[in-house]
Amino acid sequence: MRSPDGEEGLVVRKIRHGTVIDHIPVGRALSVLRILGVSLTGPHRIAVLINVESRKIGRKDIVKIEGLEPRLEDLDRIALVAPTATINVVRDYRVVVKRKVEPPREVRGILRCVNPTCITRQEREHVTPRFVRVSLEPLVYQCVYCGSLLTEKEIVEQLTGGVG
Ligand code: CTP
Ligand code: ZN
Repeated sequence: MRSPDGEEGLVVRKIRHGTVIDHIPVGRALSVLRILGVSLTGPHRIAVLINVESRKIGRKDIVKIEGLEPRLEDLDRIALVAPTATINVVRDYRVVVKRKVEPPREVRGILRCVNPTCITRQEREHVTPRFVRVSLEPLVYQCVYCGSLLTEKEIVEQLTGGVG
């Protein structure tokens, strides 16, 4: 059985109020939850689909959270761990906002340079890390100060403590 939204063979109900984060790269669903600050033992009803079929990106993860709308400041960090994601805000069963995330061209703060001798790693210098995006797929950022590259895997590890 193939349902139109790609949740093949899995019966996952529509939500009433909340957020559906769709088209998440496979294996990143829990990273997205971590970024949203959603605790697995908290009050929200959560559906996590891992490695389901997608018409758009082959396979994907999906996260549905009842009763939570994302904060604007979470969007860039979601984009950094799930660059293909679409955020759907649902009210009264209808998608009222649909927004594809976009990894920012430039990131200030948030990430840390991998080079221990980089000026941004010297506490006394008080230099805020700055990165520019040099590749979208896979996601790669470059430190403005020392030129070191930060890979997608390193970004996910930094932002979620390695939950994948
Ligand atoms: N969804 C949900 N509950 C709702 C409405 C939508 O769980 N009340 C989910 C759908 O199952 C889908 C996602 O939210 O996974 C986006 O819904 P919709 O925009 O209707 O689907 P598509 O048009 O397939 O989305 P896209 O074009 O972004 O792939
Ligand atoms: Zn650096």
